[in-house]
Amino acid sequence: MAQYFDNVNLKSEIRKFDVELLGYVFHFFSDNGVFCKNHLDFGTRLLLENIPWDEVEGDILDVGCGYGAIGIMASKLTNQPVTMCDVNKRALHLAQMNAKENKVTANILESNCYEKIDGVFDTIITNPPIRAGKKIVYEILFGAKEYLMNQGKLFLVIHKDQGAKSLLKDLEKVYKVEVLEKNKGFFVIKCEIR
Ligand SMILES: C[S@@+](CC[C@H](N)C(=O)[O-])C[C@H]1O[C@@H](n2cnc3c(N)ncnc32)[C@H](O)[C@@H]1O
Repeated sequence: MAQYFDNVNLKSEIRKFDVELLGYVFHFFSDNGVFCKNHLDFGTRLLLENIPWDEVEGDILDVGCGYGAIGIMASKLTNQPVTMCDVNKRALHLAQMNAKENKVTANILESNCYEKIDGVFDTIITNPPIRAGKKIVYEILFGAKEYLMNQGKLFLVIHKDQGAKSLLKDLEKVYKVEVLEKNKGFFVIKCEIR
């Protein structure tokens, strides 16, 4: 089945929309062939509205950044540096445009999960690519452990129909886990290194 990130032959139709979040207004360019191309995804918004931002300090990594919503907003809300990665070249190009548009300095990389990621981070945030399959999702969520500092935190969002409950059980084997919010079947989850 074609995925939204198999976009090489998809006609480009760049559009722009505004997003209000936690007292800020952001401007995003988007395009065909990227995740949730016309608005901020509900799960992404729920994640961003429920992260305890006062706990977020130091370097941030957004894995599977798409057009850049999470990384750009996280950097703006915390004034911390952000690295963002994705496998979708079109999304990465948009993320570059959006970082500039929203006056955020970001390190934006093409990377399959953590393949091109160097160093460790205080915070990793992701709305993981369910459509890429469980192997990739687990690589992102459990691989995070190797890219987090000792007191580091992973924040994620997942829907119950995408296996949130069994994922929670698996995460609890590795991390100290807290469900920060449940809304319309979405779970916002915080994981800390034990
Ligand atoms: C659910 S979308 C989230 C996009 C964006 N963070 C947001 O919240 O709007 C997941 C993203 O992961 C990306 N992705 C898929 N497979 C990946 C992989 N192996 N490594 C990194 N990113 C991947 C997709 O291209 C997509 O942009």
